[in-house]
Amino acid sequence: MKKLNILFTASEAAPFAKTGGLADVAGALPKALKKLGHDVRVVIPRYYVVDKEKYNLKPLQGALGVPMGVMGEIWCGVYEGKIPNSDVPIYFIEHEGFFGRSGLYADENNISYSDNDNRFIFLSKAALQLAKKLRFKPDIVHANDWHTAPTALFLNTHYVWDSDFEDTASVLTIHNLQHQGKFYKGVMDVLSVGWEHFTPQELEEYDGVNLLKGGIYNCDVFNTVSRKYAKEIQTPEFGWGLDGVIRDHKDKLYGILNGVDYSEWSPDIDPYIPKNYDLDNLGGKRVCKRELQKEFGLPQRDDVPLIGFVGRLAEQKGIGLIAEIIWSLLERDVQFVLLGSGEKWAEDLFRHVSYWKKDKFACKIGYDNPLSHRIEAGSDLFLMPSLFEPCGLNQIYSLRYGTLPIVRAVGGLDDTIENYDPYTKSGTGFKFYEASGRALLSTIDWAIDTYYNDKEGMKNLIKNAMSKRFDWESSAKAYEDIYYLAKAKRKCKKYQ
Ligand code: ADP
Ligand code: GLC
Repeated sequence: MKKLNILFTASEAAPFAKTGGLADVAGALPKALKKLGHDVRVVIPRYYVVDKEKYNLKPLQGALGVPMGVMGEIWCGVYEGKIPNSDVPIYFIEHEGFFGRSGLYADENNISYSDNDNRFIFLSKAALQLAKKLRFKPDIVHANDWHTAPTALFLNTHYVWDSDFEDTASVLTIHNLQHQGKFYKGVMDVLSVGWEHFTPQELEEYDGVNLLKGGIYNCDVFNTVSRKYAKEIQTPEFGWGLDGVIRDHKDKLYGILNGVDYSEWSPDIDPYIPKNYDLDNLGGKRVCKRELQKEFGLPQRDDVPLIGFVGRLAEQKGIGLIAEIIWSLLERDVQFVLLGSGEKWAEDLFRHVSYWKKDKFACKIGYDNPLSHRIEAGSDLFLMPSLFEPCGLNQIYSLRYGTLPIVRAVGGLDDTIENYDPYTKSGTGFKFYEASGRALLSTIDWAIDTYYNDKEGMKNLIKNAMSKRFDWESSAKAYEDIYYLAKAKRKCKKYQ
């Protein structure tokens, strides 16, 4: 098969700018695609957090003109670098007005920037303009979430007769359907694609504009980051109002599980943890546990189950369920460490709990990558009671660190974790189904009971978990398949 030119666009990419798993994917999938022989170019904004010196970013010659409808043509700069440990080029769109800010999407009080519509329409258009400037004729434009979904719309409108894009197909990955890019209908004048696109099937929603919906309508193929989530979003429970639209397009919908960058997340080589370990030498994990307890000021005990949590403190992550059961849970002989930031009520609650339950519960409110590694390594159990989870990465990291996940059986959590079976001793974690505090607490109790009373079961679970692999290579091959499919679909459409 012909190797492909892939223009990969996203609003964040690790390690340059990250708020969540999207950045992990945008930093890792292009590398895996490159290894398969494709020419991949990544485009993200140049926020203030992107460190030009550290990553040796160089300005590209000449400014880039970006037509923005009623706003006119807006000019920007472009910086070029490489994704670390690879030769994948990454380009940063530099525009002080749009991206010269400390936050990616919101200010320090977590209030979304009021011009996010213009900012990300600009990014989408700039990515396509940049391809022209670089004389890079993409076979595929791969957009991620609502921020870059307009690329699919533009390819079908402004660029449809452009010879630089004559063989270009579009792929859209949905990492999180909750966020759809919904704005006031005046945005149509910035998109400037014609009001005939302002229909309930394409861009219109309750007299406003929904950018993700426009992407779903216009792309050749779209996917979510697990198979289960691809099914779930076709139902009202998980569809965030778009389930009908998604059902209408289900013939071009796929589910591809994310991979893990094991050069970053492996206990045998992890530079952030106090002692490296692996399956045949678990002694290091005990050291990690003791050090973690020390770091959080908890009693240094080997004989108590230590539960870890790392993640955004957002409703999605099941923080409401944790809040419901936290006091009852802490009546047990258990320890709990939590790292995260987000909803203010949750930050306040967890600080409050740590004050009253110093010997059992400790938290750090904030974002701390090295600490997240130490929690993965030092905990016995890892909690992820999400209300919905498109894929989820932390539970997959946990498997590699022999830290048994306790998860709700939704989306990627259900696809990656196998429930423990005490009779056969098979499984890699503990699952519950109902989104209730009662179900969560009884499953944690089951895990605690296994920890105390079923040593052989625990041993097997750890062995099973640590032997699992979710590498990027297989996910990249699945993306390769949908790229070829998207190209074939595009060709058919052209000759229809
Ligand atoms: P989501 O993208 O929905 O936030 P994922 O599980 O896919 O969830 O990815 C979250 C990523 O962000 C993981 O790499 C996780 O380690 C990281 N992360 C989230 N919160 C924090 C935090 N407070 N400190 C360090 N890393 C965090
Ligand atoms: C989103 C989802 C998460 C997924 C990540 C990367 O942020 O919430 O489940 O792992 O994207 O695809």
